[in-house]
Amino acid sequence: MRVTSVLPPILLALSSYAQAKDAKKVYIDNDGDLQLLFPLLGGYEVVGYSGSFGSSSLVDSMYAIYSSLEDLNVTQCIPLYAGAEAPLLRTYNTFQDWEKLYGPLVWQGAYTPGYEDLATFDDIKYDDTKPGALALIEAVKESPGEVKIFAAGLMTTVAQALSIYPKLAEEAAGLYIMGGYVDGQLASATGGNFTSDLFSDINLMQDPEAAQMVLTAPWDELMIAGNVTNYVVKTQAYVDELLQNVGGIQSINQNPKMKALQTFVGNGTVPPVGETNLPQWDSVAIAAMVFGDMIKSSANVRVAVDTAFDSPFYGNMRIWSGDLAPRGGVRTGNATLITDVDEDMYFSLLTDAFMKDWTSYCSGGGPLEL
Ligand SMILES: *[C@@H]1O[C@H](CO)[C@@H](O)[C@H](O)[C@H]1NC(C)=O
Ligand SMILES: *[C@@H]1O[C@H](CO)[C@@H](O)[C@H](O)[C@H]1NC(C)=O
Ligand SMILES: *[C@@H]1O[C@H](CO)[C@@H](O)[C@H](O)[C@H]1NC(C)=O
Ligand SMILES: *[C@@H]1O[C@H](CO)[C@@H](O)[C@H](O)[C@H]1NC(C)=O
Ligand SMILES: *[C@@H]1O[C@H](CO)[C@@H](O)[C@H](O)[C@H]1NC(C)=O
Repeated sequence: MRVTSVLPPILLALSSYAQAKDAKKVYIDNDGDLQLLFPLLGGYEVVGYSGSFGSSSLVDSMYAIYSSLEDLNVTQCIPLYAGAEAPLLRTYNTFQDWEKLYGPLVWQGAYTPGYEDLATFDDIKYDDTKPGALALIEAVKESPGEVKIFAAGLMTTVAQALSIYPKLAEEAAGLYIMGGYVDGQLASATGGNFTSDLFSDINLMQDPEAAQMVLTAPWDELMIAGNVTNYVVKTQAYVDELLQNVGGIQSINQNPKMKALQTFVGNGTVPPVGETNLPQWDSVAIAAMVFGDMIKSSANVRVAVDTAFDSPFYGNMRIWSGDLAPRGGVRTGNATLITDVDEDMYFSLLTDAFMKDWTSYCSGGGPLEL
């Protein structure tokens, strides 16, 4: 091709896409805490973080996030907002009614009968001048093409933002989500209650309408870390190795710079996989966003979420090839579904992150080697 001094439009488009892929800003929305260490380790700027209703109530999610920001001493430079307090259409009653029709779910999150808040807003310091959805829109408008959105809970906050500002999908550098499970029926039916819990796509099921709006918007890049994340779990061997690196559990407990590590290792004994040792879901998803090399294989698929209340698949994701995807009737999105991740790389990155002191990050001095 002849070289000209002015870039033709196609090259301009390509170069802006390349830039979007290299974007190193992220806005995070989640229904609880997650490993913030991966974006920090990858040199990302976290331009905002919101807690939202889902596995916990809004206030409990925000408290979990706030505590993890405090553990790293980064509350000063990572703004925290309140995201969605309730799904778009779903209510406690319709959630329970649907279970009566189509079978009970093992995990019901903040819709568990008798759920009571553990935290209050007085326990949390956050920016209450605007809701999460607006903070997200502003962050994307301020740096078009540069902000990745990471949503690891329900899609409600992102759906609210899209409704106010539909161009969000084109102007963000992409959407990366946790949730969107496929092929889990056999495992779920034969693996017992806990496996069934692992395979219920609760992030989408608690707000199917938001999930459909969000997963079918025209994102530059839509990456789905589905049930592959179920297989990445904390092991005793890994925790033993971490403890050996830092000179035993006492040295962690005495060191205020190791609070995140304290939370991770607990008393040093790793329970079997179960409610007290859940898969590394959200952490794997955000690590894969930051460190793309961790993704060993993926598939390009069309996606949509079932929004028919009168369906056993209400809130479940359906995938097709581009050729056979619905042409009308239901809007579909274009997604990259992660199908295999490099577990060793994940844990080795996690070790790298734990071996750094992030507590002076906000004052510009971090991270330091521990
Ligand atoms: C599985 O979950 C259902 C619904 O919550 C419950 O009725 C049943 O007792 C559970 N089974 C076991 C083995 O825990
Ligand atoms: C998905 O890709 C197809 C073909 O490239 C395109 O026609 C369609 O608009 C895309 N849909 C979205 C939601 O981006
Ligand atoms: C999801 O889980 C099922 C059941 O274990 C498995 O067969 C399938 O390969 C998994 N899919 C992905 C994308 O991880
Ligand atoms: C360590 O913590 C686990 C829960 O994470 C608990 O089941 C176990 O009993 C504790 N062990 C000791 C020795 O305290
Ligand atoms: C925590 O961060 C603040 C700046 O936000 C800094 O002034 C303080 O020294 C840090 N604390 C530690 C223990 O590094």
